[in-house]
Parts: sequence; C-alpha cells; structure tokens
Amino acid sequence: MTGRQPEPVSGKVSDRTSENILLEVTDLTVRLSSGVPAVDRVSFRIRRGECLALVGESGCGKTLTALSLLHSVPVEVGESRAASLKLAGREISNPPGSELREIRGGRISMIFQDPRAALDPLFTVGDQMVETLRSHLPLSRSRAVQQALSALEEAGIAECRRVFRSYPHQLSGGQCQRATIALALSTGPELLIADEPTTALDVTVQRQILDLLIGLGRKKGLAVLLITHNLSVVAQLADRVLIMYAGQIVESAQLEEIFSGALHPYTRALLDCLPALDQPPAEPASIPGTVPQPGEWPSGCRFRPRCAFAAPGCEKEQALEAFGRESGRLARCWRSAGIDFTGSGGGAP
Ligand SMILES: Nc1ncnc2c1ncn2[C@@H]1O[C@H](COP(=O)(O)OP(=O)(O)O)[C@@H](O)[C@H]1O
Ligand SMILES: [Mg+2]
Repeated sequence: MTGRQPEPVSGKVSDRTSENILLEVTDLTVRLSSGVPAVDRVSFRIRRGECLALVGESGCGKTLTALSLLHSVPVEVGESRAASLKLAGREISNPPGSELREIRGGRISMIFQDPRAALDPLFTVGDQMVETLRSHLPLSRSRAVQQALSALEEAGIAECRRVFRSYPHQLSGGQCQRATIALALSTGPELLIADEPTTALDVTVQRQILDLLIGLGRKKGLAVLLITHNLSVVAQLADRVLIMYAGQIVESAQLEEIFSGALHPYTRALLDCLPALDQPPAEPASIPGTVPQPGEWPSGCRFRPRCAFAAPGCEKEQALEAFGRESGRLARCWRSAGIDFTGSGGGAP
C-alpha cells in the first residue's frame, strides 16, 4: 500500500500558472460517421514552451485528437466537438473561416508521419514554402524566398538551395521531414503538433529529427504536442506526458513521474515494452491483446480485459482523478491509490 489517496477533480485541473496556458481543451469528443465515439471527452492543457507527449498504441484516438485541434477531421471520417477549445485564452471551438485559416498552418502547425504525403508532389519544396509563407504573412516574393531558405538552413539542411529547388521525390525521407519541419515552423506558429514524426524514417535519422524538432521548439519557445505510440521516443524530450487508451486519457504526469512510477497499469504495460538498456536489441515487445475498436469498448475500465491487476470494481466507470495537490498528476484507475504497480508488469500474462 502506498497510502496515496485520490482526490476527485472536476473538468478543470488546478494550475497556478494559468496565464502560461496556450491551449486548453475541454471535453473533446470525435464521433465517427457511424455515430460511434472514437475520442471520448478528452481534456488537457498545453503550456507555452512545453513539450507535451500524447502516447498510446495505434487506434487509441491520438491522430483524431490532434486533427480536432485544427478542425481538420475529414467530414467522411467523423465530426469533432469540444465543450471548449481555447487558444491563448480565446475560444476557437467554432471559429469563423478567416480565423480558421489563420490558425491552421499559422498559429498551429502540424507535421505527420509521412513527410511525402504532407508535401505536394507537383511543386518544388521552395514553391510550397513561399506560397505558405505568403498566405500567412505580408511578404514580397523575394523576402519569402529568403525566409524559406533560412528556415531550411535552420532545419539542418546543408544544401538548402538545392532542396529549395527540388521536388519531394528527389529528396530522402529524412530531408523531406526536415523540409516539412522548416515549412511548419516558417510561419512562426505558437503550437507545433508532431504526429509520429519519425515512425516512417530510418532508425539512423529518427533521433536526429527528434532532436531537431525539440531543439527548434525550445529555441523558439514553441509549445510542442508530440504524438507517438512509443514511450522511448519521449524519454528525453517531453516535459509532460498524457497516456491515451481507447479514446480516453488514462494518465497525465510529468515525464519523470511516468518513468519513476506509473499510476495506471496501461502506462506500466507500455513501460514494460521498452527494451532494457542492458539487453541486446530485440524485436520490440508489445502488450498482449489489442486495443478495442470504437464501438467495442468494454464497460468500466477499457483496459480491464488486458490488465494483470483487474479486479471486481474495475467494471465500474473510472474517473480521471488527481493524485497529489502540486503536480497536476491524474490517473483513471481506482486501484492506483492502493497498489504499487512498479514491481511487476501491468500487461496480462
Ligand atoms: N479514416 C478513418 N476511417 C475510419 N475510421 C477511422 C479513421 N481514422 C480513425 N478511425 C477510427 O478511429 C480510431 C482512432 O484513430 P486514430 O485517431 O487515427 O488513432 P491513433 O492515431 O491513436 O492510431 C481508429 O482505430 C479507427 O477505428
Ligand atoms: Mg495516429
């Protein structure tokens, strides 16, 4: 027994530095076109200048959450709705078209897993950058060209003039991702969303791209929402972590709290999949079982069928509850108060 006692919280998490909040999301839900929710009343905040990681296996609703922040969930996929969505204190849950254009790619930029898909194959990198810059900022063409070249240089591209004149297919995956990072940052956004930004890249360049992304974010004082299925990606980069499972946030904590003692068995199970530092590299481990699809979520705790700690009581709906007054730490597991999950794996045997 640890003696930690949960303190129920209402929708808003107390925060003494609320003036530093850049984005505040309250009760965001995404319904698929079938009417079934795929993201279920998600609430979180991003502070200015912080790197917040959103972590969970594939199919948990991370990408739909991110797209919702830009009102970019494709209509044929579904519809997002939030009780409130505030950017720098201003409500943007239902912005007029002109404001939405200013937000998308201006105040909030997003980069994706596949950098080639983010670039138009019919135009050179330079033409795309110049057009994006001029659609958001009052720049002459020559000024926009200069700004694009310096953004490419800042993104670690040595031959920035060649890359500027290249079509996406003429570049390596790593160069393409550097170019999309340059494109995303060139308009001076306040928030950068990076959705699995290195998953499609060679292992050798993954680390470089992550370091670049987070380094540029820090240098420019940007808030970064880093989305990944792999906790090891966030290990040295994020300030805070949100763990997502089956459409819900199940844990929210500072990075070091996650690695020193996860509160939710799902977080524990993700940690157990990380390779041990003293072991030779092996096939990546995975949690037994699969994430239930939207519409097939079990009642009560959605991780219950895969959880080694499941017990009578887990079939009841679990609230996201606060642990400790200071850190804003949250977990959605009634057993977190009484069980030390750090000893053994949280995944079912
Ligand atoms: N384009 C789509 N068409 C149909 N269903 C989708 C689509 N995108 C997402 N979904 C549904 O929403 C769930 C969550 O998707 P997503 O947000 O992409 O998860 P993640 O990014 O965590 O892998 C998926 O498992 C799927 O059931
Ligand atoms: Mg995704």
